[in-house]
Amino acid sequence: MTIRKAVIPAAGLGTRVLPATKSMPKEMLPVVDKPAIQYIVEEAVNAGITDILIITNRGKGVIEDHFDCSPELEAALEKGKKYEMLETVKKLRSMANITFIRQIETKGLGHAVSRAKSFVGNEPFAVMYGDGVIVGEKPAIGQLIDVYGEYGKGVLGIKKVDEKDIHKYGSLKVELMHDNVYKCTDMVEKPQTPEAVLSLYSILDRCVLPPEIFEILERTTPGAGGEIQLTDAMKEIATTVGMTAVEFEGKRYDMGNKLGILQANIELGVNHPEIGEDLKKYLKEFVKTL
Ligand code: UTP
Repeated sequence: MTIRKAVIPAAGLGTRVLPATKSMPKEMLPVVDKPAIQYIVEEAVNAGITDILIITNRGKGVIEDHFDCSPELEAALEKGKKYEMLETVKKLRSMANITFIRQIETKGLGHAVSRAKSFVGNEPFAVMYGDGVIVGEKPAIGQLIDVYGEYGKGVLGIKKVDEKDIHKYGSLKVELMHDNVYKCTDMVEKPQTPEAVLSLYSILDRCVLPPEIFEILERTTPGAGGEIQLTDAMKEIATTVGMTAVEFEGKRYDMGNKLGILQANIELGVNHPEIGEDLKKYLKEFVKTL
């Protein structure tokens, strides 16, 4: 079965990027000239996904506006004969069927995903965290979808994280199957002691889940940080039917923290056709002053 639906949870409070995120969702923070969430929607579309549900919250209406029609702006671009930008702007509302639902209470990633139950129905679906921009030759979620096609089990997008950081992430028990594809049989969210760490492999921003996750989420109680953790629900699948994991290719930028935002802007900025050369020149001069 092909994966045609994606859920993008974007209802978090973004407290690590305050005060910038007090009234501006972190998912709308720009990476050069596009908001983070646009990269994620484009990645989904490039992987063949046709239907996207974005989970929002109070104060996140600008995300909806970004993927809506903008009559005044479009008329002004038309009048100014800025046809290329007009096409860019128009494309935003026709890339995919994009719908929105509010999480109402910010009770964690697992709770956010549970809001997608009626959108998803009875088919496997992709989850793409709204603050995780991944850039590479092949869409990261497409790499997971390929592995879903191979084994028919839930798939986790994984990478190794630094030992000193593993307590902030989910830690996975994995076993290599072939190339960059692993079997995952257990996981723990935010391990607090070295003994609790299963490996330095962590889920980073992407997964493909079976619809059974919704029934599990309904009975998942708050875990780390008092939030309903998606990892806790996925653990039940990993320890019973098992899951697969793929160490995806592509560079991942965490738009949920200040350093990640700056890294994304610098690295994608130097490759940008319009400003890349000027930014490189500027950076070369600037580093001499450090
Ligand atoms: P994070 O844990 O990174 O988001 O969730 P957060 O809660 O906004 O982070 P901080 O700690 O306060 O800075 C990863 C993704 O899940 C979404 C976030 O918007 C982000 O895209 N999320 C998180 C929800 O949709 N709902 C939630 O209740 C929590």
